[in-house]
Amino acid sequence: MGLVKSLRCPKCGHEAESRRVLQCADCRSILEIQVKIDHLTRSDFEGMRQSRDRSIWRWFDFFPVEKRSSVVSLGEGDTPLIHARRLGEKIGIANLYLKNDTVLPTGSLKDRSNSVGMSVAREWGVKTAAVMSTGNAAASVAAYAAAAGIESVVMVPKGTAPAKIVQARAHGATVIVVDGDFDNEVAKLYKTALKEFGWYDCLSSNPYRDEGKKSYAYEMVDQLDGRVHDWVIHPTAGGTGIYAMWKGYQELLSLSLIESAPKLVAAQSEAAAAIVAAFEKGLAEVEPVVARETVAESIQVGNPVSLGWRALAALRESRGTAVAVTDSEILEAQTLIGRLAGVFVEPAAATSVAAAKKLRQAGVVDQNDTVVCNLTGHGLKQPEAIRFSEKELTPIAPTLQALREQIKCIRE
Ligand SMILES: Cc1ncc(COP(=O)(O)O)c(C=O)c1O
Ligand SMILES: [Zn+2]
Repeated sequence: MGLVKSLRCPKCGHEAESRRVLQCADCRSILEIQVKIDHLTRSDFEGMRQSRDRSIWRWFDFFPVEKRSSVVSLGEGDTPLIHARRLGEKIGIANLYLKNDTVLPTGSLKDRSNSVGMSVAREWGVKTAAVMSTGNAAASVAAYAAAAGIESVVMVPKGTAPAKIVQARAHGATVIVVDGDFDNEVAKLYKTALKEFGWYDCLSSNPYRDEGKKSYAYEMVDQLDGRVHDWVIHPTAGGTGIYAMWKGYQELLSLSLIESAPKLVAAQSEAAAAIVAAFEKGLAEVEPVVARETVAESIQVGNPVSLGWRALAALRESRGTAVAVTDSEILEAQTLIGRLAGVFVEPAAATSVAAAKKLRQAGVVDQNDTVVCNLTGHGLKQPEAIRFSEKELTPIAPTLQALREQIKCIRE
């Protein structure tokens, strides 16, 4: 049973009186959950590793959900950890691993969070769950809400490509397109609406939902048979992945199930690199930036308001770093992952591999280090990022001669 031991403000230390709150009543900071895990033994952990349930719910005792009957699962978790030999050879890291989260139920890492968040919602008897999103979170919240029998409302900024909201519609979400910008008008309306209608918040401002990404740590330790990698690189927007992975590793350390934790790296698009900037300046808090257009649309976030500062602390405690990459580096990495490793990722997800290449070139990552790059979203989420030449799409005459010419032309 995943019992909450404490729900405390990490900024002012205030202990929440009710378990059913997300923010500190004194300073409005996101609250921090500690799940009661002290009693867990190595043999409990081994039992979880061997469980027939391969979803994140193998690790049930680590999540803040009391009853198994509350669990809302679509089979998320235990995603492949691929030793990408050809890609590794290309970028000079022989022990390069890809954590392929593109195969999660809705095609992105958000399912780790929403499976836990929606299970808590079911436990609390929530009627309507909401999120504001640029795409991946919308699809995921809508799917888990559908499975839970909870209504969902999704807010997206004007200009969001219809392809991005198709998944959310398919799961019956009420999709609201707002005339405004994600970090400003949409965020403001979203917050006001949560209060007005009492909707359940599925954003990273919900600490219950954020616990889901701790599963990265448990899975990777399982997949490396108790050893840990030297580096884990995560495409970063709100900072949830970095914060939660670090928390997961700390829990395993506290139970003496591992001896060390990996160095964590936040990979961001140069156009929206608030965490990288704060890391480089040695700041404890993230200064919001105006996120510019980038091919890495899913991580185009300029103000990681809830967990940015927590992610910064995790990067430093792990002795990791933060790296910004350009759109052309991201697109190059996307092509390499597709062609040398056989995984089709959206551009945002390719930032991890672009960052790995950069860190190797700078000598920060050694050629013998083991490096995991999280691949956080499927390429079909943003198919327009793959470019075709006019020539490739022009039909050829159905003759061998024309076929030979076309093959030659495309391969040149
Ligand atoms: C594809 C993809 N990768 C990575 C992230 C990073 O999120 P976080 O930094 O909150 O873990 C997101 C979500 O914003 C995403 O959609
Ligand atoms: Zn507080």
